[in-house]
Amino acid sequence: MSFLKAHRISVTYGEAPILERVDLSVDEGALVTVVGASGCGKSTFLRILLGQERPTTGEIRVDGRALAGEPDAGRGIVFQRYSVFPHLTVLGNLMLPAEIEGSKVLARLFGARRRAAREKAEAMMAKIGLADAAGRYPAQLSGGMQQRLAIGQALLKRPRILLLDEPFGALDPGTRRDMQDLLIDLWRETGMTVFMVTHDIQEAFHLGTRLLVFDKIRHDPQFPAAYGATITYDIPLKGAQPRDARRQAGPGADGAPDPVMPAGSDAGSNDTEPTRRPNP
Ligand SMILES: Nc1ncnc2c1ncn2[C@@H]1O[C@H](COP(=O)(O)OP(=O)(O)O)[C@@H](O)[C@H]1O
Ligand SMILES: [Mg+2]
Repeated sequence: MSFLKAHRISVTYGEAPILERVDLSVDEGALVTVVGASGCGKSTFLRILLGQERPTTGEIRVDGRALAGEPDAGRGIVFQRYSVFPHLTVLGNLMLPAEIEGSKVLARLFGARRRAAREKAEAMMAKIGLADAAGRYPAQLSGGMQQRLAIGQALLKRPRILLLDEPFGALDPGTRRDMQDLLIDLWRETGMTVFMVTHDIQEAFHLGTRLLVFDKIRHDPQFPAAYGATITYDIPLKGAQPRDARRQAGPGADGAPDPVMPAGSDAGSNDTEPTRRPNP
């Protein structure tokens, strides 16, 4: 049984259909990259996976169970920008998940529990390369550091599903590369299932074990908003190579076979041909 199943999802805002008949079945541990034209409903789809929004029709099942009506700790999300708290330091931002969990009213912990939360936050800070920035506020961090903080904060809740909405879209190419490496390391280490929306098709191919393309299958030139988008291509990929293997092999090694993630392993077949979804 697949880990996450979307069955006939459609979303309509007022009169406007955004998504139509989205069917999807994803194995646990996949890194699913999502591309599609701006405004076609990618962020909407992530909000539905998060449980922040209910689809107009259809349902999402995780581990065979219908998604609860609201976000829970099993799913974390990182947006392109501004998902950390500007009035908290790096350490404060990383302690917040434990503080909210431990004390719903005050969002503050005391004594041994506070020390435990602090240790966890410090370990995460080291993992995301912010150990030297504990006392800094988000405004005093670079864009890449802010995104590392946002990812660290999402991971502290140990989500089984991490949703990333164009998380590296605002970063310069060098920082972006580092962030991709960090994401791959964290993904391998945790075994979590990742959905990542990106507008960079190269990034989508490079990182994913599976690439989904959202597009409209029906188009009315007189009324561009008449139809919603769905998954039009579903492409199994080999996934990013471990950073060490890339380093050893030197530049241009990206095309070499991946010993960890064989082609198509996530799609449950060895067929590396893209699947053009039939028109429903
Ligand atoms: N809460 C909402 N109410 C009405 N329309 C919305 C809402 N959220 C998004 N939309 C519209 O739905 C469409 C899809 O938005 P979105 O999912 O953000 O697209 P994408 O992330 O692919 O760029 C857009 O036309 C957007 O204006
Ligand atoms: Mg979006």
